[in-house]
Amino acid sequence: MQLAKTIAELRDLRRQCSGSVGFVPTMGYLHEGHLALVRQARNENSTVVVSIFVNPAQFGPSEDLASYPRDLDRDLELLEEEKTDLVFMPSDEEMYPRLFSSWVDVEKVTERLEEASRPGFFRGVATVVAKLFNIVQPAKAYFGQKDAQQAIVIQRMVADLNMNLEIVLVPTVRENDGLAMSSRNVYLNSEERQAATILFKALTLAKELWQEGEKDADRIRHQMISLIQKEPLARIDYVSIADASTLEELKTVDRPALASLAIRIGQTRLIDNTILE
Ligand code: PAJ
Repeated sequence: MQLAKTIAELRDLRRQCSGSVGFVPTMGYLHEGHLALVRQARNENSTVVVSIFVNPAQFGPSEDLASYPRDLDRDLELLEEEKTDLVFMPSDEEMYPRLFSSWVDVEKVTERLEEASRPGFFRGVATVVAKLFNIVQPAKAYFGQKDAQQAIVIQRMVADLNMNLEIVLVPTVRENDGLAMSSRNVYLNSEERQAATILFKALTLAKELWQEGEKDADRIRHQMISLIQKEPLARIDYVSIADASTLEELKTVDRPALASLAIRIGQTRLIDNTILE
């Protein structure tokens, strides 16, 4: 496994790679969710590149940039075990030099859900991912269904800007009790960790109602909300039943829908989703 800290080093090593390059962008503090992406990339490509970069551009002023969990040594061990070929771990200055002033703004699908609570988040994500694609030049890049809106934004950007790669979506990896794996789960104390199962419970309820034939989106939303309100540690940011491709809220679930939610458990904001189709 080779490490590159600068764009020049990465490009040098990239030039020596033959065959298809599969790329997994991450912010590190890796868990089984990230590793599922790396494994799928490993299965489908001759070279696997992983980036570890806690992207300051996607953190709001009141968010957890400084305290975002990091453990580079452990990350590198895990990536070595998964037979990663190349790890790109640039510094902030390498990615955002002093004169940096170009941004990627994806409209419409960024206007709801996550963006409402995290203004500027997707501008930061789209910009760093566009930069990483230009640097790594992969044939395929792997994203988790866990961050469904992020995946939709990236797919939109790739289509709109004619970027020459395929975006592969990987199903959400969960703990035994259904909690979606996330680097932020380490913030939860044991009481909060127990309360955090409410996200998966609410999504499971949505899926059951829909499978039983409920098509009224408001009724599904309301049932989810009343279930979540029974958990005293949970505060709702949003509960959404939206068109799975445009992310517009639905009145009737008459097409593939994304049931998604953002819930604060104590100080920790968690998101999760499931597709109704
Ligand atoms: P990060 O939160 O580190 O996640 C990196 C990738 O892992 C994302 O595609 C995310 O959807 C995926 N992932 C996280 N948890 C997962 C889980 N439980 N199951 C499956 N996949 C999971 O998302 C980011 O970083 C950043 O926004 C990034 C795209 C790297 C841009 O900075």
